Amino acid sequence: MKQYSISPDGEKFQLPEPNDYAREFERLKNIVHDQRDKGREIVVVMGVGFVGAVMAAVVADTEDENGNPLKFVIGMQRPSTRSYWKIPLLNRGLPPVQAEDPEVLPMIRRCVNEKQTLTATFTYDALKLADVVVVDVQCDYLKESLGDVKNGQADMAALEISLEIIAEHITPDALVLIETTVAPGTTEQVAYPIMRKVFRKRGIESDPLLAHSFERVMPGKHYVASIRDFWRVCSGTNEEATSRVVKFLEEVINTDDYPLTVLNRPIESETAKIVENSYRATILAFLDEWSLFAERNGVDLIKVLEAIRVRPTHSNIIFPGPGIGGYCLPKDGGLGMWAYRHIHGFEDDIFKITPLAININDTRALHVAQLTRDALRNMSRPLAAAEILLLGASYREDVGDTRYSGSELIVRRLTEMGAELRVHDPYVQHWWEFEKQDEYPSPTHSLKRFFRSQGKLTDLHVEQDLSQALCGSDAVIFAVRHKHYLDLDPDKVVETAGSPLAVIDCFGILDDTQIKRYFELGCEVKGLGRGHVKRIKDQVRAEREEMLLALSAGRQADST
Ligand SMILES: NC(=O)c1ccc[n+]([C@@H]2O[C@H](COP(=O)([O-])OP(=O)(O)OC[C@H]3O[C@@H](n4cnc5c(N)ncnc54)[C@H](O)[C@@H]3O)[C@@H](O)[C@H]2O)c1
Repeated sequence: MKQYSISPDGEKFQLPEPNDYAREFERLKNIVHDQRDKGREIVVVMGVGFVGAVMAAVVADTEDENGNPLKFVIGMQRPSTRSYWKIPLLNRGLPPVQAEDPEVLPMIRRCVNEKQTLTATFTYDALKLADVVVVDVQCDYLKESLGDVKNGQADMAALEISLEIIAEHITPDALVLIETTVAPGTTEQVAYPIMRKVFRKRGIESDPLLAHSFERVMPGKHYVASIRDFWRVCSGTNEEATSRVVKFLEEVINTDDYPLTVLNRPIESETAKIVENSYRATILAFLDEWSLFAERNGVDLIKVLEAIRVRPTHSNIIFPGPGIGGYCLPKDGGLGMWAYRHIHGFEDDIFKITPLAININDTRALHVAQLTRDALRNMSRPLAAAEILLLGASYREDVGDTRYSGSELIVRRLTEMGAELRVHDPYVQHWWEFEKQDEYPSPTHSLKRFFRSQGKLTDLHVEQDLSQALCGSDAVIFAVRHKHYLDLDPDKVVETAGSPLAVIDCFGILDDTQIKRYFELGCEVKGLGRGHVKRIKDQVRAEREEMLLALSAGRQADST
Protein backbone atom coordinates (compact mmCIF):
# COMPACT_ATOMS: atom_id res chain seq x y z
CA MET A 1 0.00 0.00 0.00
CA LYS A 2 1.27 3.47 -0.86
CA GLN A 3 2.21 5.64 2.10
CA TYR A 4 2.19 9.41 2.27
CA SER A 5 3.79 12.17 4.28
CA ILE A 6 1.88 15.45 4.60
CA SER A 7 3.65 18.79 4.97
CA PRO A 8 2.33 21.43 7.42
CA ASP A 9 0.79 23.19 4.40
CA GLY A 10 -1.18 20.07 3.62
CA GLU A 11 0.80 18.95 0.56
CA LYS A 12 0.88 15.18 0.19
CA PHE A 13 4.12 13.38 -0.75
CA GLN A 14 4.28 9.69 -1.53
CA LEU A 15 6.94 7.89 0.45
CA PRO A 16 9.67 6.24 -1.64
CA GLU A 17 9.13 2.62 -2.64
CA PRO A 18 11.83 -0.08 -2.53
CA ASN A 19 12.93 0.39 -6.13
CA ASP A 20 13.34 4.17 -5.65
CA TYR A 21 16.38 3.70 -3.43
CA ALA A 22 18.83 2.43 -6.04
CA ARG A 23 17.80 5.21 -8.45
CA GLU A 24 18.24 7.83 -5.73
CA PHE A 25 21.71 6.55 -4.85
CA GLU A 26 22.70 6.68 -8.52
CA ARG A 27 21.55 10.32 -8.62
CA LEU A 28 23.68 11.14 -5.59
CA LYS A 29 26.74 9.26 -6.87
CA ASN A 30 26.66 11.22 -10.12
CA ILE A 31 26.38 14.56 -8.34
CA VAL A 32 29.10 13.67 -5.84
CA HIS A 33 31.41 12.58 -8.65
CA ASP A 34 31.11 16.04 -10.22
CA GLN A 35 31.46 17.78 -6.88
CA ARG A 36 34.65 15.87 -6.01
CA ASP A 37 36.08 16.91 -9.37
CA LYS A 38 35.50 20.48 -8.23
CA GLY A 39 37.51 19.72 -5.09
CA ARG A 40 34.60 19.95 -2.70
CA GLU A 41 34.27 18.05 0.54
CA ILE A 42 31.09 15.98 0.84
CA VAL A 43 29.10 16.59 4.03
CA VAL A 44 26.03 14.59 5.01
CA VAL A 45 23.79 16.24 7.59
CA MET A 46 21.68 13.59 9.28
CA GLY A 47 18.32 14.95 10.44
CA VAL A 48 17.03 18.07 8.69
CA GLY A 49 14.87 19.38 11.54
CA PHE A 50 15.05 22.79 13.23
CA VAL A 51 18.82 22.63 13.59
CA GLY A 52 19.95 20.33 10.77
CA ALA A 53 18.11 22.11 7.95
CA VAL A 54 19.76 25.45 8.61
CA MET A 55 23.13 23.93 9.54
CA ALA A 56 23.06 22.08 6.19
CA ALA A 57 22.52 25.40 4.38
CA VAL A 58 25.25 27.17 6.36
CA VAL A 59 27.73 24.42 5.37
CA ALA A 60 26.54 24.41 1.74
CA ASP A 61 27.04 28.19 1.59
CA THR A 62 30.71 27.95 2.64
CA GLU A 63 33.13 29.49 0.14
CA ASP A 64 36.88 29.95 -0.17
CA GLU A 65 38.46 33.41 -0.40
CA ASN A 66 37.71 33.48 -4.17
CA GLY A 67 34.03 32.82 -3.65
CA ASN A 68 34.17 29.15 -4.76
CA PRO A 69 31.98 26.75 -2.79
CA LEU A 70 34.01 24.51 -0.49
CA LYS A 71 31.43 21.87 0.40
CA PHE A 72 28.66 19.85 -1.10
CA VAL A 73 25.95 18.96 1.38
CA ILE A 74 23.44 16.13 1.39
CA GLY A 75 20.66 16.60 3.92
CA MET A 76 19.62 13.12 5.05
CA GLN A 77 16.21 12.54 6.50
CA ARG A 78 14.55 9.25 7.30
CA PRO A 79 11.50 8.75 5.07
CA SER A 80 8.89 8.44 7.84
CA THR A 81 5.29 9.52 7.26
CA ARG A 82 5.92 12.28 9.78
CA SER A 83 9.12 13.72 8.29
CA TYR A 84 9.57 12.64 4.68
CA TRP A 85 7.95 15.83 3.29
CA LYS A 86 11.04 17.78 4.42
CA ILE A 87 13.08 16.17 1.61
CA PRO A 88 11.04 17.24 -1.44
CA LEU A 89 10.55 20.66 0.12
CA LEU A 90 14.29 21.17 0.61
CA ASN A 91 14.93 19.98 -2.93
CA ARG A 92 12.69 22.78 -4.19
CA GLY A 93 14.84 25.24 -2.26
CA LEU A 94 12.29 25.71 0.52
CA PRO A 95 13.07 25.53 4.25
CA PRO A 96 11.38 22.60 5.99
CA VAL A 97 11.17 24.64 9.18
CA GLN A 98 9.28 27.80 9.95
CA ALA A 99 11.86 30.55 10.12
CA GLU A 100 11.41 34.21 11.01
CA ASP A 101 14.98 34.95 9.88
CA PRO A 102 14.85 36.56 6.42
CA GLU A 103 18.24 34.95 5.64
CA VAL A 104 16.96 31.35 5.79
CA LEU A 105 14.84 31.18 2.63
CA PRO A 106 17.30 32.93 0.26
CA MET A 107 20.20 30.92 1.66
CA ILE A 108 18.49 27.57 1.09
CA ARG A 109 17.20 28.68 -2.31
CA ARG A 110 20.67 29.92 -3.30
CA CYS A 111 22.42 26.71 -2.24
CA VAL A 112 19.85 24.37 -3.82
CA ASN A 113 19.06 26.21 -7.05
CA GLU A 114 21.95 28.53 -7.88
CA LYS A 115 25.14 27.20 -6.32
CA GLN A 116 23.74 23.64 -6.40
CA THR A 117 25.71 22.76 -3.28
CA LEU A 118 22.76 21.34 -1.34
CA THR A 119 20.44 18.44 -1.95
CA ALA A 120 18.27 16.30 0.29
CA THR A 121 17.77 12.57 0.29
CA PHE A 122 16.06 9.68 2.03
CA THR A 123 18.62 6.99 1.35
CA TYR A 124 21.12 6.06 4.01
CA ASP A 125 23.47 5.08 1.19
CA ALA A 126 24.31 8.79 0.99
CA LEU A 127 26.46 8.16 4.05
CA LYS A 128 28.81 6.06 1.91
CA LEU A 129 29.76 9.24 0.05
CA ALA A 130 30.51 11.38 3.09
CA ASP A 131 33.79 12.93 4.19
CA VAL A 132 32.00 14.41 7.18
CA VAL A 133 28.71 13.38 8.78
CA VAL A 134 26.98 15.98 10.95
CA VAL A 135 24.44 14.40 13.31
CA ASP A 136 21.46 16.63 14.09
CA VAL A 137 18.84 14.09 15.11
CA GLN A 138 16.89 14.62 18.28
CA CYS A 139 17.67 13.18 21.70
CA ASP A 140 14.72 13.68 24.01
CA TYR A 141 14.15 13.50 27.71
CA LEU A 142 10.72 12.05 28.43
CA LYS A 143 9.06 13.20 31.64
CA GLU A 144 6.53 10.89 33.24
CA SER A 145 4.94 13.46 35.56
CA LEU A 146 4.20 17.14 35.50
CA GLY A 147 6.63 19.03 37.71
CA ASP A 148 8.93 16.12 38.61
CA VAL A 149 11.78 15.87 36.12
CA LYS A 150 13.45 13.11 38.11
CA ASN A 151 10.59 10.86 37.08
CA GLY A 152 11.68 10.47 33.49
CA GLN A 153 14.33 9.15 31.18
CA ALA A 154 16.48 10.01 28.19
CA ASP A 155 15.09 8.81 24.90
CA MET A 156 18.20 8.10 22.88
CA ALA A 157 16.61 5.66 20.45
CA ALA A 158 16.75 7.93 17.37
CA LEU A 159 20.35 8.84 18.11
CA GLU A 160 21.48 5.27 18.79
CA ILE A 161 19.82 3.98 15.63
CA SER A 162 21.36 6.83 13.64
CA LEU A 163 24.84 6.05 14.92
CA GLU A 164 24.50 2.39 14.06
CA ILE A 165 23.31 3.26 10.57
CA ILE A 166 26.16 5.72 10.12
CA ALA A 167 28.74 3.10 11.17
CA GLU A 168 27.21 0.60 8.76
CA HIS A 169 27.64 2.96 5.81
CA ILE A 170 30.52 5.40 6.19
CA THR A 171 34.09 4.96 5.05
CA PRO A 172 36.49 4.44 8.00
CA ASP A 173 38.06 7.86 7.65
CA ALA A 174 34.83 9.88 7.64
CA LEU A 175 34.50 12.30 10.54
CA VAL A 176 31.26 11.96 12.53
CA LEU A 177 30.38 15.19 14.27
CA ILE A 178 27.58 14.89 16.82
CA GLU A 179 25.81 18.23 17.26
CA THR A 180 22.83 16.78 19.09
CA THR A 181 22.53 17.82 22.73
CA VAL A 182 23.24 14.56 24.51
CA ALA A 183 23.55 13.11 27.99
CA PRO A 184 27.18 13.87 28.95
CA GLY A 185 29.27 10.80 28.23
CA THR A 186 27.27 9.80 25.13
CA THR A 187 29.95 10.37 22.49
CA GLU A 188 32.55 8.23 24.23
CA GLN A 189 30.39 5.74 26.10
CA VAL A 190 27.41 5.24 23.80
CA ALA A 191 28.32 6.40 20.30
CA TYR A 192 31.91 5.14 20.22
CA PRO A 193 31.13 1.54 21.34
CA ILE A 194 28.13 1.31 18.99
CA MET A 195 30.17 2.46 16.03
CA ARG A 196 33.28 0.49 16.91
CA LYS A 197 31.28 -2.74 17.15
CA VAL A 198 29.79 -2.18 13.69
CA PHE A 199 33.22 -1.25 12.31
CA ARG A 200 34.67 -4.51 13.63
CA LYS A 201 31.79 -6.46 12.07
CA ARG A 202 32.63 -4.78 8.79
CA GLY A 203 36.28 -5.81 9.24
CA ILE A 204 37.40 -2.22 9.82
CA GLU A 205 40.29 -2.18 12.27
CA SER A 206 40.57 1.59 12.80
CA ASP A 207 38.51 3.45 15.38
CA PRO A 208 35.64 5.71 14.33
CA LEU A 209 36.55 9.38 14.15
CA LEU A 210 34.05 10.97 16.47
CA ALA A 211 33.64 14.51 17.75
CA HIS A 212 31.07 16.57 19.61
CA SER A 213 30.21 20.22 19.11
CA PHE A 214 26.83 21.41 20.32
CA GLU A 215 24.57 23.90 18.61
CA ARG A 216 23.58 27.18 20.23
CA VAL A 217 21.01 27.96 17.58
CA MET A 218 18.23 30.35 18.53
CA PRO A 219 15.00 30.30 16.53
CA GLY A 220 14.01 33.82 15.51
CA LYS A 221 15.31 36.69 13.45
CA HIS A 222 18.95 35.67 13.80
CA TYR A 223 18.58 31.96 13.17
CA VAL A 224 21.42 31.73 10.63
CA ALA A 225 23.77 34.02 12.54
CA SER A 226 23.19 31.99 15.71
CA ILE A 227 24.75 29.03 13.86
CA ARG A 228 27.36 30.69 11.67
CA ASP A 229 28.36 33.79 13.63
CA PHE A 230 28.54 32.44 17.12
CA TRP A 231 31.04 30.85 19.46
CA ARG A 232 31.47 27.08 19.32
CA VAL A 233 32.85 24.51 21.70
CA CYS A 234 34.17 21.21 20.35
CA SER A 235 36.15 18.13 21.21
CA GLY A 236 37.16 14.86 19.53
CA THR A 237 37.61 11.32 20.81
CA ASN A 238 41.25 11.33 19.69
CA GLU A 239 43.79 13.74 18.26
CA GLU A 240 42.85 13.10 14.66
CA ALA A 241 39.14 13.58 15.34
CA THR A 242 39.91 16.78 17.22
CA SER A 243 42.04 18.27 14.45
CA ARG A 244 39.45 17.24 11.83
CA VAL A 245 36.56 18.85 13.74
CA VAL A 246 38.56 22.03 14.32
CA LYS A 247 39.37 22.24 10.60
CA PHE A 248 35.73 21.63 9.64
CA LEU A 249 34.32 24.21 12.03
CA GLU A 250 36.95 26.76 11.06
CA GLU A 251 35.81 26.39 7.46
CA VAL A 252 32.06 26.63 8.05
CA ILE A 253 31.72 28.85 11.13
CA ASN A 254 32.92 32.43 11.43
CA THR A 255 35.67 31.48 13.89
CA ASP A 256 37.73 34.61 13.09
CA ASP A 257 35.18 36.73 14.91
CA TYR A 258 33.84 33.98 17.16
CA PRO A 259 36.82 31.86 18.18
CA LEU A 260 36.45 28.15 18.85
CA THR A 261 36.93 26.65 22.29
CA VAL A 262 38.53 23.23 22.01
CA LEU A 263 38.07 21.03 25.07
CA ASN A 264 40.05 17.91 25.91
CA ARG A 265 37.26 15.36 25.90
CA PRO A 266 33.80 15.14 24.30
CA ILE A 267 32.22 14.75 27.75
CA GLU A 268 33.43 18.27 28.49
CA SER A 269 31.78 19.68 25.37
CA GLU A 270 28.61 17.71 26.19
CA THR A 271 28.65 18.94 29.79
CA ALA A 272 29.20 22.54 28.67
CA LYS A 273 25.91 22.43 26.76
CA ILE A 274 23.97 20.93 29.66
CA VAL A 275 25.48 23.31 32.23
CA GLU A 276 24.90 26.43 30.15
CA ASN A 277 21.23 25.55 29.67
CA SER A 278 20.76 24.44 33.28
CA TYR A 279 22.30 27.73 34.40
CA ARG A 280 19.82 29.63 32.29
CA ALA A 281 16.91 27.50 33.53
CA THR A 282 18.03 28.07 37.11
CA ILE A 283 18.32 31.85 37.01
CA LEU A 284 14.86 31.98 35.47
CA ALA A 285 13.34 29.56 37.99
CA PHE A 286 14.68 31.36 41.01
CA LEU A 287 12.69 34.43 40.02
CA ASP A 288 9.43 32.49 40.31
CA GLU A 289 9.39 32.87 44.10
CA TRP A 290 10.25 36.57 43.80
CA SER A 291 7.50 36.90 41.26
CA LEU A 292 5.00 35.64 43.86
CA PHE A 293 6.60 37.82 46.52
CA ALA A 294 6.13 40.80 44.21
CA GLU A 295 2.47 39.98 43.52
CA ARG A 296 1.68 39.74 47.22
CA ASN A 297 3.58 42.82 48.39
CA GLY A 298 2.80 45.55 45.88
CA VAL A 299 6.07 45.20 43.99
CA ASP A 300 6.49 45.45 40.23
CA LEU A 301 9.15 42.82 39.52
CA ILE A 302 9.64 44.21 36.02
CA LYS A 303 10.88 47.53 37.41
CA VAL A 304 12.92 45.79 40.09
CA LEU A 305 14.74 43.76 37.43
CA GLU A 306 15.30 46.86 35.30
CA ALA A 307 16.89 48.51 38.33
CA ILE A 308 19.14 45.51 38.94
CA ARG A 309 20.10 45.10 35.30
CA VAL A 310 22.01 48.39 35.24
CA ARG A 311 24.73 46.64 37.27
CA PRO A 312 27.05 45.20 34.63
CA THR A 313 27.51 42.04 36.75
CA HIS A 314 23.72 41.42 36.65
CA SER A 315 22.93 42.52 33.13
CA ASN A 316 21.46 39.18 32.04
CA ILE A 317 18.79 38.89 34.73
CA ILE A 318 15.51 38.42 32.87
CA PHE A 319 11.86 38.07 33.73
CA PRO A 320 10.67 34.47 33.38
CA GLY A 321 7.28 34.93 31.66
CA PRO A 322 4.66 32.19 31.95
CA GLY A 323 7.02 29.22 31.91
CA ILE A 324 10.27 28.41 30.23
CA GLY A 325 9.76 26.70 26.92
CA GLY A 326 11.69 25.90 23.80
CA TYR A 327 13.07 22.49 23.03
CA CYS A 328 16.20 22.73 25.15
CA LEU A 329 15.82 24.34 28.57
CA PRO A 330 13.04 22.04 29.82
CA LYS A 331 14.97 18.87 28.98
CA ASP A 332 18.72 19.43 29.04
CA GLY A 333 19.21 19.27 32.83
CA GLY A 334 17.26 16.00 32.78
CA LEU A 335 19.75 14.54 30.29
CA GLY A 336 22.60 15.47 32.66
CA MET A 337 21.01 13.88 35.72
CA TRP A 338 20.06 10.79 33.77
CA ALA A 339 23.63 10.41 32.51
CA TYR A 340 25.04 10.51 36.06
CA ARG A 341 23.09 7.38 36.96
CA HIS A 342 22.56 5.51 33.71
CA ILE A 343 25.78 6.17 31.82
CA HIS A 344 28.22 6.70 34.67
CA GLY A 345 26.58 4.35 37.19
CA PHE A 346 26.37 6.55 40.29
CA GLU A 347 23.61 5.84 42.78
CA ASP A 348 23.65 8.95 44.96
CA ASP A 349 21.46 11.94 44.34
CA ILE A 350 23.75 14.94 43.89
CA PHE A 351 21.33 17.04 41.87
CA LYS A 352 19.20 19.47 43.86
CA ILE A 353 19.07 22.78 42.03
CA THR A 354 18.90 21.56 38.44
CA PRO A 355 15.73 19.45 38.88
CA LEU A 356 14.11 22.02 41.15
CA ALA A 357 14.61 24.71 38.52
CA ILE A 358 13.09 22.58 35.76
CA ASN A 359 10.14 21.60 37.96
CA ILE A 360 9.43 25.24 38.81
CA ASN A 361 9.69 26.30 35.18
CA ASP A 362 7.49 23.40 34.03
CA THR A 363 4.62 24.44 36.31
CA ARG A 364 4.93 28.23 36.49
CA ALA A 365 2.23 28.69 33.85
CA LEU A 366 -0.41 27.11 36.10
CA HIS A 367 -0.39 30.25 38.23
CA VAL A 368 -1.66 32.21 35.23
CA ALA A 369 -4.89 30.20 35.42
CA GLN A 370 -5.25 31.26 39.07
CA LEU A 371 -4.72 34.93 38.20
CA THR A 372 -7.32 34.64 35.44
CA ARG A 373 -9.78 32.97 37.81
CA ASP A 374 -9.25 35.70 40.43
CA ALA A 375 -9.52 38.57 37.96
CA LEU A 376 -12.79 37.20 36.58
CA ARG A 377 -14.07 36.56 40.09
CA ASN A 378 -13.40 40.20 40.99
CA MET A 379 -15.61 41.12 38.06
CA SER A 380 -18.30 38.70 39.32
CA ARG A 381 -17.87 36.45 36.31
CA PRO A 382 -17.30 32.73 36.81
CA LEU A 383 -14.35 31.25 34.98
CA ALA A 384 -16.29 28.19 33.89
CA ALA A 385 -17.69 28.96 30.45
CA ALA A 386 -15.90 32.33 30.26
CA GLU A 387 -14.51 33.13 26.80
CA ILE A 388 -10.78 33.61 27.29
CA LEU A 389 -8.42 34.90 24.64
CA LEU A 390 -4.77 33.93 24.88
CA LEU A 391 -2.37 36.22 23.02
CA GLY A 392 0.68 34.22 21.99
CA ALA A 393 1.19 30.47 21.58
CA SER A 394 4.95 30.32 21.05
CA TYR A 395 7.57 30.03 23.76
CA ARG A 396 9.25 33.35 23.10
CA GLU A 397 8.64 36.64 21.38
CA ASP A 398 8.41 37.02 17.63
CA VAL A 399 8.96 33.36 16.76
CA GLY A 400 6.51 30.63 15.78
CA ASP A 401 8.09 27.84 17.84
CA THR A 402 5.50 26.42 20.26
CA ARG A 403 7.57 23.64 21.76
CA TYR A 404 6.95 23.41 25.52
CA SER A 405 5.56 26.94 25.64
CA GLY A 406 4.00 28.12 28.89
CA SER A 407 0.96 29.02 26.81
CA GLU A 408 0.17 25.33 26.24
CA LEU A 409 -0.17 24.77 29.97
CA ILE A 410 -2.32 27.87 30.38
CA VAL A 411 -4.74 26.56 27.74
CA ARG A 412 -4.80 23.09 29.26
CA ARG A 413 -5.41 24.20 32.84
CA LEU A 414 -8.06 26.80 31.94
CA THR A 415 -9.84 24.26 29.72
CA GLU A 416 -9.82 21.78 32.57
CA MET A 417 -11.39 24.47 34.76
CA GLY A 418 -14.22 24.84 32.25
CA ALA A 419 -13.24 27.96 30.31
CA GLU A 420 -13.60 28.33 26.55
CA LEU A 421 -10.26 29.21 25.00
CA ARG A 422 -9.39 31.21 21.91
CA VAL A 423 -5.84 31.78 20.73
CA HIS A 424 -4.21 34.41 18.60
CA ASP A 425 -0.62 34.26 17.38
CA PRO A 426 0.64 36.01 14.26
CA TYR A 427 3.55 33.58 13.94
CA VAL A 428 1.67 30.30 14.43
CA GLN A 429 -0.80 28.85 11.94
CA HIS A 430 -1.10 25.40 13.47
CA TRP A 431 -0.62 24.62 17.13
CA TRP A 432 0.28 20.97 16.68
CA GLU A 433 0.45 20.34 20.44
CA PHE A 434 -3.36 20.61 20.35
CA GLU A 435 -4.38 19.88 16.76
CA LYS A 436 -2.44 16.60 16.88
CA GLN A 437 -2.44 16.08 20.61
CA ASP A 438 -2.83 12.32 20.28
CA GLU A 439 0.46 11.97 18.44
CA TYR A 440 2.51 15.12 19.09
CA PRO A 441 5.22 15.45 20.38
CA SER A 442 4.83 11.66 20.54
CA PRO A 443 1.81 9.35 20.93
CA THR A 444 2.40 8.81 24.65
CA HIS A 445 3.86 12.13 25.71
CA SER A 446 1.39 14.92 25.08
CA LEU A 447 0.95 17.16 28.13
CA LYS A 448 -2.73 16.38 27.59
CA ARG A 449 -2.35 13.38 29.85
CA PHE A 450 -1.87 15.53 32.94
CA PHE A 451 -5.22 17.33 32.58
CA ARG A 452 -8.87 16.32 32.29
CA SER A 453 -11.43 17.32 29.64
CA GLN A 454 -8.87 18.02 26.92
CA GLY A 455 -10.63 16.25 24.04
CA LYS A 456 -12.13 19.34 22.38
CA LEU A 457 -8.72 21.02 22.12
CA THR A 458 -8.00 19.19 18.85
CA ASP A 459 -10.36 21.81 17.37
CA LEU A 460 -8.43 24.76 18.80
CA HIS A 461 -7.43 26.82 15.83
CA VAL A 462 -5.07 29.76 15.97
CA GLU A 463 -6.89 32.94 15.06
CA GLN A 464 -4.98 35.34 12.81
CA ASP A 465 -7.40 38.26 13.09
CA LEU A 466 -6.92 39.95 16.45
CA SER A 467 -10.17 41.93 16.37
CA GLN A 468 -12.20 38.84 15.61
CA ALA A 469 -10.44 36.97 18.41
CA LEU A 470 -11.11 39.77 20.90
CA CYS A 471 -14.77 40.21 20.06
CA GLY A 472 -16.89 38.92 22.97
CA SER A 473 -13.94 37.88 25.15
CA ASP A 474 -14.38 37.92 28.93
CA ALA A 475 -10.64 37.84 29.54
CA VAL A 476 -7.47 38.44 27.59
CA ILE A 477 -4.15 36.91 28.58
CA PHE A 478 -1.02 38.61 27.29
CA ALA A 479 1.26 35.56 27.24
CA VAL A 480 4.06 36.36 24.81
CA ARG A 481 5.93 39.60 24.08
CA HIS A 482 5.19 39.55 20.34
CA LYS A 483 5.67 43.05 18.95
CA HIS A 484 2.00 43.07 17.91
CA TYR A 485 0.89 43.10 21.54
CA LEU A 486 3.20 45.71 23.05
CA ASP A 487 1.27 48.83 22.09
CA LEU A 488 -2.33 47.69 22.03
CA ASP A 489 -4.57 50.57 22.99
CA PRO A 490 -6.77 49.67 26.00
CA ASP A 491 -9.69 51.70 24.66
CA LYS A 492 -9.56 49.79 21.40
CA VAL A 493 -9.25 46.44 23.18
CA VAL A 494 -12.29 47.06 25.38
CA GLU A 495 -14.28 48.48 22.50
CA THR A 496 -13.48 45.44 20.34
CA ALA A 497 -14.21 43.02 23.17
CA GLY A 498 -17.59 44.70 23.57
CA SER A 499 -17.34 45.26 27.35
CA PRO A 500 -14.74 45.54 30.13
CA LEU A 501 -12.74 42.35 30.52
CA ALA A 502 -10.18 40.68 32.76
CA VAL A 503 -6.64 41.46 31.59
CA ILE A 504 -3.75 39.20 32.58
CA ASP A 505 -0.20 40.28 31.87
CA CYS A 506 2.24 37.35 31.98
CA PHE A 507 5.34 39.04 30.59
CA GLY A 508 5.55 42.67 31.66
CA ILE A 509 3.81 43.66 28.44
CA LEU A 510 1.62 46.43 29.84
CA ASP A 511 3.09 49.70 31.05
CA ASP A 512 1.55 51.58 33.95
CA THR A 513 -0.37 53.97 31.70
CA GLN A 514 -2.04 51.04 29.94
CA ILE A 515 -2.79 49.29 33.24
CA LYS A 516 -4.36 52.47 34.64
CA ARG A 517 -6.47 52.94 31.53
CA TYR A 518 -7.77 49.34 31.72
CA PHE A 519 -8.87 50.02 35.30
CA GLU A 520 -10.50 53.30 34.28
CA LEU A 521 -12.43 51.40 31.62
CA GLY A 522 -13.80 49.02 34.27
CA CYS A 523 -11.44 46.12 33.59
CA GLU A 524 -9.68 44.02 36.20
CA VAL A 525 -5.90 43.65 35.71
CA LYS A 526 -3.53 41.08 37.15
CA GLY A 527 -0.04 40.06 36.16
CA LEU A 528 2.78 37.67 36.95
CA GLY A 529 5.14 39.51 39.28
CA ARG A 530 3.13 42.72 39.02
CA GLY A 531 1.97 43.44 42.57
CA HIS A 532 1.82 47.17 41.91
CA VAL A 533 -1.38 46.84 39.86
CA LYS A 534 -3.31 46.92 43.13
CA ARG A 535 -1.83 50.36 43.82
CA ILE A 536 -2.89 51.58 40.39
CA LYS A 537 -6.37 50.14 40.96
CA ASP A 538 -6.65 51.96 44.32
CA GLN A 539 -5.47 55.16 42.67
CA VAL A 540 -8.10 54.89 39.92
CA ARG A 541 -10.75 54.14 42.52
CA ALA A 542 -9.66 57.15 44.64
CA GLU A 543 -9.67 59.41 41.58
CA ARG A 544 -13.13 58.18 40.64
CA GLU A 545 -14.43 58.79 44.16
CA GLU A 546 -12.90 62.27 44.16
CA MET A 547 -14.53 62.98 40.85
CA LEU A 548 -17.89 61.72 42.07
CA LEU A 549 -17.56 63.86 45.20
CA ALA A 550 -16.68 66.88 43.09
CA LEU A 551 -19.63 66.15 40.83
CA SER A 552 -22.09 65.78 43.66
CA ALA A 553 -20.64 68.91 45.34
CA GLY A 554 -21.15 70.72 42.02
CA ARG A 555 -24.73 69.43 41.80
CA GLN A 556 -25.42 70.59 45.35
CA ALA A 557 -23.95 74.01 44.58
CA ASP A 558 -26.14 74.19 41.44
CA SER A 559 -29.27 73.29 43.37
CA THR A 560 -28.69 75.91 46.12
N1 LIG B 1 15.77 23.65 18.20
C1 LIG B 1 16.61 24.36 18.91
O1 LIG B 1 16.31 25.51 19.17
C2 LIG B 1 17.95 23.78 19.37
C3 LIG B 1 18.93 24.65 19.86
C4 LIG B 1 20.18 24.12 20.26
C5 LIG B 1 20.37 22.74 20.21
N2 LIG B 1 19.37 21.93 19.77
C6 LIG B 1 19.63 20.49 19.74
O2 LIG B 1 19.78 20.05 18.40
C7 LIG B 1 19.31 18.69 18.28
C8 LIG B 1 18.31 18.58 17.13
O3 LIG B 1 17.20 19.39 17.48
P1 LIG B 1 16.10 19.83 16.44
O4 LIG B 1 15.35 20.94 17.08
O5 LIG B 1 16.71 20.04 15.10
O6 LIG B 1 15.20 18.49 16.39
P2 LIG B 1 14.12 18.07 15.27
O7 LIG B 1 13.25 17.06 15.91
O8 LIG B 1 13.53 19.28 14.66
O9 LIG B 1 15.02 17.39 14.15
C9 LIG B 1 15.56 16.12 14.22
C10 LIG B 1 15.43 15.51 12.84
O10 LIG B 1 16.16 14.27 12.81
C11 LIG B 1 15.43 13.36 12.04
N3 LIG B 1 15.88 11.99 12.31
C12 LIG B 1 15.67 11.24 13.41
N4 LIG B 1 16.22 10.02 13.26
C13 LIG B 1 16.81 10.00 12.05
C14 LIG B 1 17.54 9.03 11.30
N5 LIG B 1 17.75 7.80 11.78
N6 LIG B 1 18.01 9.37 10.08
C15 LIG B 1 17.78 10.60 9.59
N7 LIG B 1 17.08 11.55 10.21
C16 LIG B 1 16.61 11.26 11.44
C17 LIG B 1 14.00 13.64 12.44
O11 LIG B 1 13.07 13.11 11.54
C18 LIG B 1 13.99 15.17 12.47
O12 LIG B 1 13.71 15.73 11.21
C19 LIG B 1 18.74 18.32 19.63
O13 LIG B 1 19.70 17.64 20.36
C20 LIG B 1 18.48 19.67 20.28
O14 LIG B 1 18.53 19.57 21.67
C21 LIG B 1 18.18 22.42 19.34
